[in-house]
Amino acid sequence: VSDARRDRIAASWRDNAAAWTRIVREGGIESRRVATDAAICTAIRAVSPRCVLDVGCGEGWLCRALAREGTDVVGIDAAPALIDAARAAGGARFELMSYAQADALRGLGAFDAIACNFALLDDDPAPLLHTLAAMLTADGALLIQTVHPWTACGDAPYRDGWREESFAGFDARFATSMPWYFRTLQSWSALFAATGLRVERLQEPTHPERGTPLSLLFTLRPGHARDAARLTASTTG
Ligand SMILES: C[S@@+](CC[C@H](N)C(=O)[O-])C[C@H]1O[C@@H](n2cnc3c(N)ncnc32)[C@H](O)[C@@H]1O
Repeated sequence: VSDARRDRIAASWRDNAAAWTRIVREGGIESRRVATDAAICTAIRAVSPRCVLDVGCGEGWLCRALAREGTDVVGIDAAPALIDAARAAGGARFELMSYAQADALRGLGAFDAIACNFALLDDDPAPLLHTLAAMLTADGALLIQTVHPWTACGDAPYRDGWREESFAGFDARFATSMPWYFRTLQSWSALFAATGLRVERLQEPTHPERGTPLSLLFTLRPGHARDAARLTASTTG
């Protein structure tokens, strides 16, 4: 893991918080408007959760959308200005917290659904995924939406590696670029297998007119770990 890159990821969200809040709330990102916002909401609703944790919640739009439907929602994010913006808009509970604060995360309790919407950005999400998997209720699911590697790859080789997001296509007010870790589909699959998560469903929301894939959307269940525990219990008991 590159600590310097993680620091730069955090710094970019601190610096770009106002521009991000504005563009999200104005519906300025086409892929979100036409497909990916609805896709994550629908995938979460399919789990019928009573309580949801939104990890890397940003300015809180997803928390508000779910809370409007009567769901209890907690959002966490490491960017103070984004948590301030989320709290100002209300609707859910918002906590300033980094993914590295595993104890603080666990202290939030158990959730029927945990969502990470375009919020896994570095090269080692495994420790976070372990923590989140352990925070799910018995029938709980982890929902991860991320950029579609086919669309996000651009002209670079199709292999894992650090990339740089300039936000040039977003809005001129994004002052600070952000490193992010590109992952192939094979790499996502290996990551989930290594963290004991079973892919229950993989969706590829597409652009309604152009047909281009806009994201990968995984519904994950804590498969291996629990199966292994059950197996151990039945063979020893
Ligand atoms: C692309 S934004 C997505 C925000 C929100 N999920 C949404 O859909 O609008 C990524 C978010 O992840 C948060 N984030 C990234 N790394 C984080 C970390 N290590 N700890 C806490 N939050 C983090 C950022 O602060 C930012 O708000």
